Amino acid sequence: MSFVFSYSHRDGAIHIKVPDSGMPEILAWAPSRLDAASISDRASRINGMDDPPPSAVILPTGGAGFFGWPAIQGHRDGQDFTLLFANWRHEERDGALMLRAHDAVARVSVALRIAIHDGDVLTFATTLTNEGDTPYMLERCMARSMVAPAGPATLTTFTGMWGREFQQRETACPDRLTVQESRRGRTSHDRFPALVFKQGAKQIAMHLGFSGNHVIAMDPLDDGRRLIHAGELFEPGEMRLQPNESYESPPLFFARDPAALRNHVRKKILAWPNGSMRPRPVTLNSWEGNYFDHKIEALKAQIDEATSLGIERFVLDDGWFGKRNDDTSSLGDWDIDPAKYPDGFKPLVDHTLACGLEFGIWIEPEMVNPDSDLFRAHPDWALQIAGRPLLTSRNQLVLDLTRPDVFDYLFSKFDQLLRANAISYLKWDMNRDLTFAGDHSGRAATSRQTRAFYRLMEKLRSAHPDVEVESCASGGGRADYGVLKYTHRIWTSDCTDPLERLSIQDGARIFLPPEILGSHISASPNHQTHRVTTLDFRALVAFAYHFGVELDPTKLDADAKAKLRDWIALHKELRPHLHDADAQFALAPLDGRYVWGAITDKRAVVIIAQGAQMQSEHPAPLTLPMRGSHLKRWRVTKCHPVEPDFIRINESQKKFLKGEGDASAFDLAEIGINLPMLRPESGVVLIFDAEDREARHG
Ligand code: GLA
Repeated sequence: MSFVFSYSHRDGAIHIKVPDSGMPEILAWAPSRLDAASISDRASRINGMDDPPPSAVILPTGGAGFFGWPAIQGHRDGQDFTLLFANWRHEERDGALMLRAHDAVARVSVALRIAIHDGDVLTFATTLTNEGDTPYMLERCMARSMVAPAGPATLTTFTGMWGREFQQRETACPDRLTVQESRRGRTSHDRFPALVFKQGAKQIAMHLGFSGNHVIAMDPLDDGRRLIHAGELFEPGEMRLQPNESYESPPLFFARDPAALRNHVRKKILAWPNGSMRPRPVTLNSWEGNYFDHKIEALKAQIDEATSLGIERFVLDDGWFGKRNDDTSSLGDWDIDPAKYPDGFKPLVDHTLACGLEFGIWIEPEMVNPDSDLFRAHPDWALQIAGRPLLTSRNQLVLDLTRPDVFDYLFSKFDQLLRANAISYLKWDMNRDLTFAGDHSGRAATSRQTRAFYRLMEKLRSAHPDVEVESCASGGGRADYGVLKYTHRIWTSDCTDPLERLSIQDGARIFLPPEILGSHISASPNHQTHRVTTLDFRALVAFAYHFGVELDPTKLDADAKAKLRDWIALHKELRPHLHDADAQFALAPLDGRYVWGAITDKRAVVIIAQGAQMQSEHPAPLTLPMRGSHLKRWRVTKCHPVEPDFIRINESQKKFLKGEGDASAFDLAEIGINLPMLRPESGVVLIFDAEDREARHG
């Protein structure tokens, strides 16, 4: 018999209809009680079927009268190519709802895990088990299919490339099957596994927490609603389940507002040393200031300068190991280069720690250069397919982490390095996509490789729980909730040009907490775009994120040093406020103007950046999402830089910015501030403080 039941946890509840056979349907996700009696079956002969199967189900399978995109598919050497699950049972286990069913014909069972979390977040995962006595070839198994309402709607998705990640695209919701597939073996720069469905004021945000290949499919249903499916993408023949073997999908995260997902990342995913995030240390990264040219005395001088600037962490980037003088060699040879560091890291680490800075290093464990001792000794350790070319990318190959010898080699190398040196931070890079990714038996290995990478991270993290880790993949190519279980920072993009960073960061912060997005002040002209920008603009754009510097500070003139010192001091003063999740906000960009920051009922820190030259003759009034009583009066208490690059400013604007006038929260939120036009590629940080008194009524 089919039945309807409700599962509630804390203040959330989902209401599910479970059929005799076939897949369950989520009727609603609402805190209220459901009147199950009011749910009637549909009458029309959908698809001409006398007994139409419901279509808006979790994970529809094919063959039984549902002609849309099946969310689970497989076969047993051509047999058992359809699935029809029956005998549904449900139970609560480990704080989640488990729905289990069995297909006695195909001899496959399924378990759906559905968890309701604080902050209105749902997570889903699917486990499929081969209960037969022959291998079952699983071709597709989504984490979840979710129903989105019928009617006009838009989709926000993300595109991009190296140096230009997280570019938002808002399109009309398609009326035919639309599929995003990513087969790069990492989260990718161009297909971030997330979307936001918008219909009027309603939103649905979802993200697949996985760093390997993925698929997201949107399929319109017979009644105009849409099913959105998301899960792992398998290479042909990749997921071959032996008898009693199971496949577990990565988790799919789902919320009505991306802010709830960001909070979920903070509360449930990020695993901080000592349990909670401490203020994010201002970082000096050696890459753009030194590249492969490591000279210990020059590095020490940079660390001295960094100390006087107020920097708190030094990260020694690529170039410290093997004979790594450029990007053609040595990945895999994880021994400190004796030519550059004759006494190992100790002198540099001691110097860094004596200055009061933390010390971190760059690593890229999964990679090997053909020009390395490791590859010369073990050419079979790279992912490859016999007879196919070894395709290099950035002169490197990918190690086969599914091999226990490779896994053990990598673990022991980095374990020893961390044991022998006071390294408290790893920047873990992955600088290429996977190609011809076969294991030693010639089978596709991407899925197992991704999981082996997680295991390696997990093992190193549990051996060194105090070490923080940054996830980098040529910038933001491995940024997702799967990798965030083991990491604490995302290197948002290799492009440090502030103009480009405006849209990159604006997109990245939708699904990722801004305080874990690395953002650095680099040199001008910028190394990626050759664009010249002011130090103030570079600092302002990086200011609210996990702030850092990526240039040789000894090369700055006295004026630049003084400015940088001021920006760093201001960041340190304001970071508890800027990194306060409840206070953060960002407005939709308008005519090249980006506005973001953090507002509590006492203080508003508002960062205003003008990217490209405006098209309008005057900026629109800036309305701010003020907190607290709308009668409360607010005053500008700081404007940084003191003289922003305004094109024309009148007396009343000058007075307002000097804090000589005040405004009510109502005025700021509803009428807005008439700020003067900012010159392109410039900006201002405004701090408003609330006054104790409130405006008079009337
Ligand atoms: C990648 C990273 C950079 C830097 C280099 C080092 O490109 O994204 O930040 O670490 O590798 O080779």
